[in-house]
Amino acid sequence: MRIRTFAEYQLAYEQSVNDPEAFWAEVAQNFHWRKPWTKTLQWNFEEPNIKWFSGGKLNITENVLDRHLTTRPNQPAIIWEPNDPAEPSVTLTYKMLHDYVCRFANVLKRNGVRKGDRVCIYMPMVPELAVAVLACARVGAIHSVVFGGFSAQSIADRINDAACSVVITSDGAVRGNKTIPMKDTVDDALIGCPTVQRVIVMTHTRTPVAMRKGRDVWWETEMKQVTSDCPAEEMDAEDPLFILYTSGSTGKPKGVVHTCGGYMVYAQYSFENVFQVEPGDIHFCTADVGWITGHSYIVYGPLLAGSTSVIFEGIPTWPDAGRFWDVVDRHKVTILYTAPTAIRSLMGFGLDPLKNKDLRSLRVLGSVGEPINEEAWHWYDENVGKHKCPIVDTWWQTETGGILISPLAGITKTKPTFATLPLPGVQPLLVDEAGKEIEGNGVSGNLCIRFPWPGILRTTWGDHERCRQTYFSTYPGLYFTGDGCLRDEDGYYRITGRVDDVLNVSGHRIGTAEVENAINMHTGVVESAVVGYPHDIKGQGIYAYVITESDTAHEADLMRRDILATVSRVIGPIAKPDKIQFVSGLPKTRSGKIMRRILRKIAEGDTSNMGDTSTLLDPAVVDAIKAGAV
Ligand code: WT7
Repeated sequence: MRIRTFAEYQLAYEQSVNDPEAFWAEVAQNFHWRKPWTKTLQWNFEEPNIKWFSGGKLNITENVLDRHLTTRPNQPAIIWEPNDPAEPSVTLTYKMLHDYVCRFANVLKRNGVRKGDRVCIYMPMVPELAVAVLACARVGAIHSVVFGGFSAQSIADRINDAACSVVITSDGAVRGNKTIPMKDTVDDALIGCPTVQRVIVMTHTRTPVAMRKGRDVWWETEMKQVTSDCPAEEMDAEDPLFILYTSGSTGKPKGVVHTCGGYMVYAQYSFENVFQVEPGDIHFCTADVGWITGHSYIVYGPLLAGSTSVIFEGIPTWPDAGRFWDVVDRHKVTILYTAPTAIRSLMGFGLDPLKNKDLRSLRVLGSVGEPINEEAWHWYDENVGKHKCPIVDTWWQTETGGILISPLAGITKTKPTFATLPLPGVQPLLVDEAGKEIEGNGVSGNLCIRFPWPGILRTTWGDHERCRQTYFSTYPGLYFTGDGCLRDEDGYYRITGRVDDVLNVSGHRIGTAEVENAINMHTGVVESAVVGYPHDIKGQGIYAYVITESDTAHEADLMRRDILATVSRVIGPIAKPDKIQFVSGLPKTRSGKIMRRILRKIAEGDTSNMGDTSTLLDPAVVDAIKAGAV
């Protein structure tokens, strides 16, 4: 399962392409299966229909927890670093975590949760978040974690899409110097969620909460009613493990479905190889468990591998911009995995926050979520890694379950801004607009994958056709990533960004249509168009062009603030536009299609050459927008 040299990587890669089934069957041997699989892989990308390890029976938590009980019961599984550095951190050993998960799994059962039920988790970054996730997996319930920054409306949409019967939340969350009322937000969401029977509320901030009799129960009270004896539910390899919602180019987020067997195999395999994990490693992934990065590389990957995972509740800039380095120093972190946006924001504080912080424990640095620019790469290398830590620029997606293109730490020669080479089992290719493969090196095109790997999504919840349409129909027979990519003379891959209407704002994936829908819900808004523009820290900023019913000139600022409040309310603060320009018309073709290319150019501040505008219904509108650009 472990690759240790570049020659071994090349060999593994070759084997994985020549005989994928034999390759992955051998990797999968390293896990605990209740019953072995009968067929390693069945697939087609037309329907699509993808099945790994068919007939295999397992429970992922027996691999995450039980199998470590004999080998490392007293090793830390989770180290929790609270928001406030003055408060003590918490360590849960594998034995303690096993106990905790089993007890909470019994709480779920007591509250009517059965195999196949959907459970929504809306929690702060506390150990109980991982416990809730694993307890769902223990009883065979499908978890749907919703990022704590999403609005009540977004929670409700996700709960209703999956028809969740239970919600797990906490009274509140603390981030920096802010307290966020989580249960309150859940209460607002539940006004429109008829399927929810039970809400389990963990006490964290002691924020006052309303507890509805017959529906809401306290985590702590429930835990007193159960034992820690909870045999794991037997799952089929292809039973869903979780749903995670992600944005696409259409308005409604999709529930990406991952299944038990393949996801498990891929999460551990990718984790161990990319980060070249060693016994005793302390892995600090700064993402939130509400995103796929947190699922795969805070919870499942590290714990499957028997590693130690840091869960950090706070933010990088509170109480000061040295907080990450403080966590690294305090817990002797060996692997740090963060996003370019965090690096860029910390760069702005200079080197002072790094002073007197001992970073010598660090061995590997990771980057994820968006293209990393050269300046950030070098700053990370020089000031954090002190030129001693390989940087792994890991490219992947919610849909891929785990990292697909990345250096293997210390093994693959790195090149700033390049995700470098595919992991074994991953067969990328570049295609042109017509879907024709672009062969050779020194080329660029749209990034596709031609063969399944165990962690690929299986469907989108409740709407398989949407899954087919979105990922498998643009280029028949291929999985289309939505990313543009170049392959240089060395065959190294560099991801250049989305080629669809999806934005990447501070590593968060946001659909332009979603933001437009939210803006259009505001009173007085007639129409809007949203595009991305380069932003020094966020990577991309959100630029909204808005047409209003009446002239807003005299109260433009108030209107702007109200629109922001509406977007916050509908999606969440992460989707708030950075710039709003009121316009009287949008550049549309005769068929009514908005020419986003023009709007993007204006948002970028590049108005020199607008290209061909002759197909526009009203070319004069472009000059008016140019003149009013913000
Ligand atoms: C999109 C997926 C799973 C990672 C967290 C985000 C962009 C991700 C990189 C990278 C350039 C990257 C892509 C991708 N992206 N990693 N290393 N270099 N771009 O997951 O929310 O599903 O977003 O993030 O555009 O399609 P996600």
